[in-house]
Amino acid sequence: MSRLKKWMYALIAIAGIVFIVLKLSCHWLPSCWINSTGITKETHPFCNQFMTEFYKPLNATHRKRGPSFLITFFLLEQKALRGQKDFLIVETGSLRTEPINIPADGASTIIFDAFLKIHNGTLRTVDLDPKCQGVIRKYCSEKVIAYTSDSVKFLETFNEAEKIDVLYLDSFDLDVTNPEPSAEHHLKEIEIIFDCLKKGTIIIVDDNLVYKGKPVGKGYLVEKFLKDKGVPMIFDGYQKVFQIAPDPKDIEGVSKIRDLTSSLKMRFFF
Ligand SMILES: C[S@@+](CC[C@H](N)C(=O)[O-])C[C@H]1O[C@@H](n2cnc3c(N)ncnc32)[C@H](O)[C@@H]1O
Repeated sequence: MSRLKKWMYALIAIAGIVFIVLKLSCHWLPSCWINSTGITKETHPFCNQFMTEFYKPLNATHRKRGPSFLITFFLLEQKALRGQKDFLIVETGSLRTEPINIPADGASTIIFDAFLKIHNGTLRTVDLDPKCQGVIRKYCSEKVIAYTSDSVKFLETFNEAEKIDVLYLDSFDLDVTNPEPSAEHHLKEIEIIFDCLKKGTIIIVDDNLVYKGKPVGKGYLVEKFLKDKGVPMIFDGYQKVFQIAPDPKDIEGVSKIRDLTSSLKMRFFF
């Protein structure tokens, strides 16, 4: 064999080994980092499922909802570890597109349904568009109850005895060139339901971004309303996440996830 050929084979072999090592580390390194925050398959099964099933398959620009969802499911699974057996999730703006479009809409209805396949509970989701009912029946389990109504009228029907664990606000579509109508609609939603929310309720508002240097989004008026009520924001990004009277024992875990998911290494490996 000529010397050149030998070098070529050696280079191909080295490239192959590097490829395999990188591929393998893409699997075990993120798991090690996640485990370092105390999130293991045993303690937080859905956090792990979320990472592998919904988050990792997306490319980096589409992972804008990853950290906020992960924090939400971490907090819910902390409640499960403390003995909570049943969860109530309320969503405004339901699954509407076929095929399922995770990057565009988020597919929150599907993701919450997947959570409820591991943990007991119900998702009550509302949309103005009656077509959502058909899409939901096709893709979601019977744990998802779909309503057709204006979201503010729907939220008015709740009473204070209901314990909402997650309130997910994602109705009136955002127009970045005219964000006020959407932000005002989401403000009406939180105003009408606020007295039904309890210690530990997580509130998420989807679709927040910067447009022409100005923060716009569904959540900027909700943020102001909750700030005036003394409700802390625990994550600020494409989704804004708030929690009423968070358990101090969860704060460290939340900040570890926040740091980890914003770090460069996670973006690279995920
Ligand atoms: C962004 S989509 C919801 C996506 C869904 N959360 C998901 O992740 O798959 C917004 C939905 O809000 C609905 N919507 C708009 N205005 C509404 C209103 N006033 N009340 C209830 N739903 C409304 C629209 O019909 C649309 O289906």
